[in-house]
Amino acid sequence: MSPTSMTTATASQAVTSSATGRASEPPVPFVDLAAQHTALRGEIDAAIARVIDQGQFVLGDEVARFEAEFAAYCGARFAVGVASGLDALTLALTALGIGPGDEVITAANTFIATALAIVRVGARPVLVDCDPETLSIDVGQVVAAISPRTRAILPVHLYGRLADMPQLAQLAERHGIALVEDAAQAHGAALDGRAAGAWGAAGCFSFYPSKNLGALGDGGAVVTSDAALAEKLRTLRNYGGQTKYRHELAGFNSRLDTLQAAVLRVKLPHLDEWNHARRQAAAKLRELLTVSPSPSLPLRGDESIRLRALPRDAEFPIDHVQHLFPIEVDHRDEVARRLGDLGIGVAIHYPTPVHLTPAMAHLGYQPGAFPVAERAAERLLSLPLYPEIRDEQLQRVAAAVRSAVGSS
Ligand SMILES: Cc1ncc(COP(=O)(O)O)c(C=O)c1O
Repeated sequence: MSPTSMTTATASQAVTSSATGRASEPPVPFVDLAAQHTALRGEIDAAIARVIDQGQFVLGDEVARFEAEFAAYCGARFAVGVASGLDALTLALTALGIGPGDEVITAANTFIATALAIVRVGARPVLVDCDPETLSIDVGQVVAAISPRTRAILPVHLYGRLADMPQLAQLAERHGIALVEDAAQAHGAALDGRAAGAWGAAGCFSFYPSKNLGALGDGGAVVTSDAALAEKLRTLRNYGGQTKYRHELAGFNSRLDTLQAAVLRVKLPHLDEWNHARRQAAAKLRELLTVSPSPSLPLRGDESIRLRALPRDAEFPIDHVQHLFPIEVDHRDEVARRLGDLGIGVAIHYPTPVHLTPAMAHLGYQPGAFPVAERAAERLLSLPLYPEIRDEQLQRVAAAVRSAVGSS
């Protein structure tokens, strides 16, 4: 879940569910971080105690070790820990020398942070629509949007599924522009065996608590295999210098907190098993929701529930990590309200596309500019999905969705 998404159903609600026929059942929360933390509590407590005992609260060994471990996990040479996903994107663009007068192409259907980072460095976000089937950035529209001012393409691996990186990488190379990945929702995802974050000049991650790899607060990282870029990022995140009171660049205070790095080191070894559990839960939910004989295919347009952002298994060996499980429905807000009443936590990713967000009004885009993104914003609904979700909870989610859609 992203910080601004809408959610319903709190863990304290107990509801009467007509969807499943049982009298009173506990709600199914949208995310359940307590389940993950209960299992790791002893190790997390020990990691925090270790930092307190060492007394090194800013950067230091824990951050350096996490960076090495996370870089290796992504199949990249370096990772630079920063304060958030937004900062990862902002620092990556800054380190690549992108600024006023430059254009960066990105998707209209993403969390605001993607576009905000471009605005922060003084460049202009050039938005394009998404593919109606996968909801990933539409490569054809990226091609059409390239201008002499374009300095980077910034695809987003939305919902845990990689964008069409082979084509985007080729395109970036052909035009001599940078490829920067927003991998905030895709820790551990891969395409053709190459991990999210390892495709572009820089891969930007968020460790917001509900991400596939989440800290106990804010955190982020930029992954790169470019030694000079990594060095610049390390300098930028630390007031523009790596030696005290020597400042080569006009930098930031944006370091990955040492306590968070220690916690992330406890969690990282579990990421693959968590992603596997997410995939299994998603497969189960698809099966429960699908009336089509082929559960790996989206339902046809005339069905009332349309499954979205699926891996096109047959065409691409995409390793989807199911950060989210969005479905597409008619009367979305009404369905969301009914699911809330039935005790099912839901969220919307995202209710307003970037170009219609007030903070981006200065870009001058009008309603109708990106019809696929606008339709997605009106019709998508994310269902509960996390590694610890139980079969019985998935069954309740599916039954509730059928009931809410049927009566809408
Ligand atoms: C696609 C995307 N980009 C960027 C971010 C920003 O990350 P953070 O919340 O750590 O700043 C998020 C998550 O919130 C995200 O989902």
